[in-house]
Amino acid sequence: MSGPTPPPLPPDLELLLRHMHLPYMRRMAPEVLATARAQRWDPAEVLKVLLGEEVAGRERSALATRRAQAAFPTGKTFSTWDANLSSIPAPTQTALGTLEWIGRHENLVVCGPSGTGKTFFLEGLGQLAVEAGLKVAWFRLEELGVLVRRHRADDSVTKAVQAILRAKLIVVDDIGLLPVSPDAAEGFFRLVDAAYEKRSVAVSSNVHPAGFDELMPKTLATATVDRLLHHAHINVFNELRPPVH
Ligand SMILES: Nc1ncnc2c1ncn2[C@@H]1O[C@H](COP(=O)(O)OP(=O)(O)OP(=O)(O)O)[C@@H](O)[C@H]1O
Ligand SMILES: [Mg+2]
Repeated sequence: MSGPTPPPLPPDLELLLRHMHLPYMRRMAPEVLATARAQRWDPAEVLKVLLGEEVAGRERSALATRRAQAAFPTGKTFSTWDANLSSIPAPTQTALGTLEWIGRHENLVVCGPSGTGKTFFLEGLGQLAVEAGLKVAWFRLEELGVLVRRHRADDSVTKAVQAILRAKLIVVDDIGLLPVSPDAAEGFFRLVDAAYEKRSVAVSSNVHPAGFDELMPKTLATATVDRLLHHAHINVFNELRPPVH
């Protein structure tokens, strides 16, 4: 809406809106009320538009919070993803994009060589999840090692892992790129174990899970992979397809 600056709200109304913590309604009210007066809106319409502004503002703010809390690595979304470049079949991309697997607490493993779009794909799915109102947590494998070290001193690793499980989708990116420290292997096991049948874990790796015992101690690898793959979608990424001209 454009036009002359609408008159400010009466101070007592402004105060009431502050008191009731209705910041979006307060911001839009001068303009909405001016338009309502000029166009002789029904009072019910005024109320509806004002409350609608508050609801929309809160939703925008909650989405921004979920996005920031997820700490995505690049900020990329599927808006710049080219489905044809990826070696993953389009129906699989679409099926995973429905996020129904997250509702069923299933896991997702994407593996394949470097530069094939694994991180981008997981980030795209993560962004869809936050847009759908779901909390997402993003880790690189080594960050789980840092977490274990930080919480081992006061024996609060279990608590820290439980806090991660507030997210509906937990992403562990970049398994196999760097040597896996014993702490990272422990953190990964604890996370996969705690999330088992409760939350979705999505993992990207240069190594197929069958080869995880080359990356971490064999017993730990077996226990982790058993739980990870029990209800999981596995997608092997190959080199990007050349663009079609
Ligand atoms: N389907 C796609 N559409 C557009 N760009 C893509 C697609 N897949 C990958 N890319 C681009 O290719 C590059 C590599 O992708 P990405 O970082 O996701 O690979 P990766 O498999 O995670 O690699 P690494 O194993 O090294 O982490 C990025 O610049 C990414 O934007
Ligand atoms: Mg990657």
